[in-house]
Amino acid sequence: MPQDVIIIGSGAAGLTAALALADKLKVLVLAKGVLTGGSTAWAQGGIAAVLDAGDTFEEHIRDTMVAGAGLNRLETVEFVIERAPHAIQRLVELGVPFNAEGNDFHLTREGGHSHRRIVHVNDATGWAVQSALLKAAEAHPNISLLPGRSCIDLITGKHEQRYSGSGRVWGVYALNEATGRVEAHTARATVLATGGAGRVYQFSTAPRGATGDGIAMAWRAGARVSNMEMMQFHPTCLYNLEVKNFLITEAVRGEGGHLLNPRTGHRYMPDYDERAELAPRDVVARANDAEIKRDGLDYVHLDISHKPPEFVREHFPNIYEKLLSLGIDMTKGPIPVVPAQHYTCGGVLIDLTGRTDLPGLYAAGECTESGLHGANRLASNSLLECFVFGEAAAADILARWDSFDAPPKVRGWDESRVTDSDEEVVIHQNWAEIRRFMWNYVGIVRTTKRLERAAHRIKLLTEEVEDYYGHFRVSTDLIELRNLLQCADLIVRSALQRHESRGLHYTLDFPDMLKVARDTVLVP
Ligand code: FAD
Ligand code: SIN
Repeated sequence: MPQDVIIIGSGAAGLTAALALADKLKVLVLAKGVLTGGSTAWAQGGIAAVLDAGDTFEEHIRDTMVAGAGLNRLETVEFVIERAPHAIQRLVELGVPFNAEGNDFHLTREGGHSHRRIVHVNDATGWAVQSALLKAAEAHPNISLLPGRSCIDLITGKHEQRYSGSGRVWGVYALNEATGRVEAHTARATVLATGGAGRVYQFSTAPRGATGDGIAMAWRAGARVSNMEMMQFHPTCLYNLEVKNFLITEAVRGEGGHLLNPRTGHRYMPDYDERAELAPRDVVARANDAEIKRDGLDYVHLDISHKPPEFVREHFPNIYEKLLSLGIDMTKGPIPVVPAQHYTCGGVLIDLTGRTDLPGLYAAGECTESGLHGANRLASNSLLECFVFGEAAAADILARWDSFDAPPKVRGWDESRVTDSDEEVVIHQNWAEIRRFMWNYVGIVRTTKRLERAAHRIKLLTEEVEDYYGHFRVSTDLIELRNLLQCADLIVRSALQRHESRGLHYTLDFPDMLKVARDTVLVP
């Protein structure tokens, strides 16, 4: 049955949009796997907002622009930052138990911020936010939550029973992960809130499902994507051969943690930047990478053991327990850390209303390029972006509702020419291959030659995967592989187009920054 609005994704962006729409409209939320499977539930540090008497919007705006190396769109930065206190208030009303100091929020500090301005729930802010949003969505009679749906492709005019060829989006084809059948879900408006593409890299702090599905779906349907070369690497992911993607929050540095070379014990960050450990992430990640490569290390050390043990345990209870279970006592000694992919700054191009290029298609959160982050996201600005654009998209849908037509009859998914796969190994082999060459050739430090090598491999793999996709029934792994490859292609093409080093895009062939900042916009 057609819905009013379909939202793809049940993280901070998707559920914020759902809750903002549901008093007026019927909303269906689709999610791959479980409803808590996105990055939102994993967020640690917190949410940036001007809440301290000594802090100002101007300073938060300036910090965001400095971190973003001037590629940010000022009107978006102002739009988001001025709405941050309202977003926090809304979360408080939903029951998020932010840490407090008397009547005020307890604010922590992270790299690139000139003030303490991060509200948090201990060191597990994301879980508290995800739980509160989900509780409210589950309780709302107008919201239906459908987990276990891997969306494959957007339904557009091409899929209408009376073919129109228009780019109007009418919903999405989704694989029911339990039955293996593909369902067509239609609606008057569709919101993409599918998160990032971090899993395109071998080492990433992001969850398993961060495979850029929404970015790839929007691109295939005809929407522009922007700044995909701006992949953020977090400086401090735990180095552990079994636990591969556990983040050590930036707040550890914010509360006084030092980065040390494990061979010499030298605190090296002051040698790289006057802001030392509190420099923006791109600077710290590159410094860690340089120390590791120069001395042939497996990791560097993050040390906060000079602080009183009760201070460390109180501020970082979850990280402390997790590390203790792995035999590391962070109150007594350093934590081995490495940089890892962390955040996708580029994505589907949207405006301040969350509209994409395609009529009927909105997008919010990490799958978008809204102009907020520019060439490097300032820490803790991304959950904020989810709340602001989730609400903005909902507001625009409500304002324009009378102009949205009911969806037409669309064609069902055609399985007449495919069979069950007899070569699953192709999928696993290609997943691993993409992630390895993206890490080695399209990582923290790039060169044109390495990017060209990656482009060549992407071309070969694309032929193989498209052939496979054309012959066999879809599975979640196959859907994700196709999207990972699509995103890898968008990242490499964007990186090859940028002939400068700016923010997260650092290339030895163009080490300087050009005078004028320009977005890399790819047009399908
Ligand atoms: P997500 O929360 O990632 O949700 C994506 C949703 O889309 C999921 O429900 C998923 O199932 C669904 N989905 C994806 N593909 C499909 C498909 N094909 N079909 C159906 N559904 C699909 N940011 C901060 O601001 N502060 C922090 O402290 C912070 N800490 C972080 C710590 C970690 C370890 C990580 C990985 C990120 C952190 N970030 C932080 C970034 C932040 O968590 C994310 O940018 C943000 O949560 C993204 O929210 P989202 O709603 O856009 O997507
Ligand atoms: C962290 O806690 O270090 C992550 C914060 C962020 O990604 O914004």
